[in-house]
Amino acid sequence: MKTSGYIKEQLQRLYPDMVRWRRHLHQNPELSFQEVHTSRWIADQLNAFGCEVRKDVGGHGLLVTIKGDLPGPVVALRADIDALPIQDEKECDYRSKVPGVMHACGHDGHTAALLAVASYYQQHKAELAGERRLIFQPAEEQTPGGALRMIEDGALDGVDAIYGVHLWSPLPYGQASTKPGPFMAAADEFTLEIVGLGGHGGMPHKTVDTIVIGSALVQSVQSIVGRNVDPLKPAVVTIGSFQAGTTNNVIAERCVMKGTVRTFDEETRKLTHERLEQLVKHTCGMYGAKYDYHMRIGYPPVVNDEQEAGRFFRVSGELFGEANTIRSEAMMVAEDFSYYLEKVPGCFMFIGAGNEETGVVHAHHHPRFDIDERAMVHSAQLLIQMAEDFAKA
Ligand code: NI
Repeated sequence: MKTSGYIKEQLQRLYPDMVRWRRHLHQNPELSFQEVHTSRWIADQLNAFGCEVRKDVGGHGLLVTIKGDLPGPVVALRADIDALPIQDEKECDYRSKVPGVMHACGHDGHTAALLAVASYYQQHKAELAGERRLIFQPAEEQTPGGALRMIEDGALDGVDAIYGVHLWSPLPYGQASTKPGPFMAAADEFTLEIVGLGGHGGMPHKTVDTIVIGSALVQSVQSIVGRNVDPLKPAVVTIGSFQAGTTNNVIAERCVMKGTVRTFDEETRKLTHERLEQLVKHTCGMYGAKYDYHMRIGYPPVVNDEQEAGRFFRVSGELFGEANTIRSEAMMVAEDFSYYLEKVPGCFMFIGAGNEETGVVHAHHHPRFDIDERAMVHSAQLLIQMAEDFAKA
């Protein structure tokens, strides 16, 4: 196995290419499930390196198989490739050329870093132990996501471990972080329409008032987190929209409520869903209203394998220093990397991509979002070192 110094030097050499690749993608973003040109362009780069590429995996996904000359495990490394429906408001020469579409989450950087990883491994097959499977995944930003279909299409067949990186602008360049166990939340969304009986505001006894029913429900759903969920387990039930009624003297026949449920483990998630549905059913029943209720299931929680997270803290400590290796808090954002982690052990990690001095301070999904591009080298480095550390164990 090559030393980390050697790997870093090789990746530094690829840095101008990474910047070029990332800026090409940044200028030509495509939305989730529509990554036709992106996918073709990635395949062209991989073919130029001489890689074995499988196209159209689970939609617009790509699988790269790099087999070493030595025996060893199969380690998968994943990047997502899709962009967001946001207007790019940055002032720079690599701004998005597509109106209303932008790489505002750094997936362009993930793709460029994984291309560098492909180029590195392709040139070092002779001393590579086992196989490296590179997953270029579409549609991370939109449920049902791209991961599940790629898995169904064989992305994880024979895989022993998987690693993924997210460039993270709230974390300064130079740092890296993750958390063992539950790291990111499951995020599900519900819509409820209560149907009562409208009528005159002065004659409520002739009506079924959906504002009264909806209000009762807004109060009672807060008892799920307060009284049903284990107080040591995090959960959120939020009703973000409540639409009913038209004017002073008319009783509202319909009330539409929209909300989200966020949890970190399947047991709490199931309990929260069940209680929500019971409260909806019985509250509407109690007041004599009908209802239409839909829960849209989002991604499961991202749960890092304890041992693999341990590997991150050791590997990152050696690469970036102990002081730059941060133990993250759990976060209420969601990621479909969770599907891979349900199947094989692995770890999802953050690489610091923020830089206050150069004005790279905007949050993910912000119209002025950008990354410190040097973080792509750290990203590629961490992915390779995690894989090689696993392979030598
Ligand atoms: Ni993202």
